Amino acid sequence: MAKVDVLLGLQWGDEGKGKVVDFLTPKYDVVARFQGGPNAGHTLEFDGKKHVLHQIPSGIFREGTINIIGNGVVLDPITFENELLGLAPFNLDLKRSLILSTKAQMIIPSHRLLDAAFEKSKGVLKIGSTLRGIGPTYQDKMARVGLRLGDVNVKDFDQKYQSLKGKHCETLDRLGFEYDLSEQEEAFFKAIEVLRSFRILNTEYVINDLIDQGKTVLAEGAQGSLLDIDFGSYPYVTSSNTISAGACTGLGVSPKLIGEVFGIFKAYCTRVGSGPFPTELLGESGDALRKQGNEFGATTGRPRRCGWLDIPALKYATMLNGVTQLFMMKVDILSNLGDIMVCDSYAHQGKNTDEFTADFDDDWSTNLKKFPSWSNHAFSKYDEFPVELRNYITYIEGRTNIPINLVSIGPERDRTIIKL
Ligand code: GDP
Ligand code: IMO
Ligand code: MG
Repeated sequence: MAKVDVLLGLQWGDEGKGKVVDFLTPKYDVVARFQGGPNAGHTLEFDGKKHVLHQIPSGIFREGTINIIGNGVVLDPITFENELLGLAPFNLDLKRSLILSTKAQMIIPSHRLLDAAFEKSKGVLKIGSTLRGIGPTYQDKMARVGLRLGDVNVKDFDQKYQSLKGKHCETLDRLGFEYDLSEQEEAFFKAIEVLRSFRILNTEYVINDLIDQGKTVLAEGAQGSLLDIDFGSYPYVTSSNTISAGACTGLGVSPKLIGEVFGIFKAYCTRVGSGPFPTELLGESGDALRKQGNEFGATTGRPRRCGWLDIPALKYATMLNGVTQLFMMKVDILSNLGDIMVCDSYAHQGKNTDEFTADFDDDWSTNLKKFPSWSNHAFSKYDEFPVELRNYITYIEGRTNIPINLVSIGPERDRTIIKL
């Protein structure tokens, strides 16, 4: 039976999902995003060009692939139009290769304002949201008042929009948040016209029909497992299920269709926004890793917090997702660093533990293990890896019990080494 493979991030996002989805796409007929929205920034590099996608799946550059924006996604029409403009020079036949779900929720301009107003009201306890309206839109989905993409083709769309906006404005007024929606609204209605020119379908049928025809699907996750609404470091998380189970609810495919789960992680860790980060490097060493790894957000440009690889967190994420293969990214960044560290376990009240906690406070500490870094990354095959890198890989495989089958040594599509 044809299967749906899932690729997702095992850390706090930005693991390099866009790069690997683009690399793997030739093996699949369909690439589908199942959650998140324009909070995501997925970077692809090929033919000397760099491109960042936010809502459009990372399979879009490969001819013949169908790209689906699933029901679990929250889509901002204005960002969507901007993404289309960014893709124009590539001359892609997007009307053919891109299909959107009738059931995906729509981000309207006042959702973004609410995001800003809620963050402001939280003060120092703010989440560090990307301010793209993600939380308020999922909130409306659960409250069963949201607009969905399918609504653009019903007669009373404008009325539905005004009614939802009216509710938002009441909240904004109550919070004393000042705003002017006129410019954004103009852009929004222009973008709605663009949206109407695309295929908006019940994509759960599209995907299942394609699977019945023997086609293969790669489900592309956004964010990372440690930002999952249930299992991440709550409340410093995003508002969707980023784990593999989210692929079923976010696309309408049954769990029995899931095949491989590719878990992707950086050889170290990064995080954008607030919340605990057990292995965070503060001060100069954090700055050095940020500079070396060019760790600045693809969506907001914010500096990413940087730290060492965290084994308890990685094991937690592989457990939640049922990861079958690990892909390790940005291995080049750790080369020539002298010694590198890994958090092998946590210590809490005199005991060592592998159990991940969302409440990593002063009662907790990390047990670090030292590894020598590799002196170069000028290799093109798995069996050419320097011994130091091989030891690092063997250690991680041993601690997770999962093989590392892909290693990435640069941002470009071809800087990717697979285990044969
Ligand atoms: P995503 O959100 O998971 O798709 O990741 P982002 O695109 O936000 O961030 C990953 C960044 O790392 C991007 O700038 C990529 O171009 C870059 N990148 C991916 N893999 C590698 C790698 O192996 N080495 C280096 N140096 N950069 C990489
Ligand atoms: P990709 O798909 C990294 C973080 C934000 C914030 C928290 C909540 O590129 O890996 P939200 O806007 O969702 O309300 O923000 O989640 N965040 C991400 N961090 N990569 C992402 O996506 C992220 N999407 C959200 O920084 O801490
Ligand atoms: Mg990103």
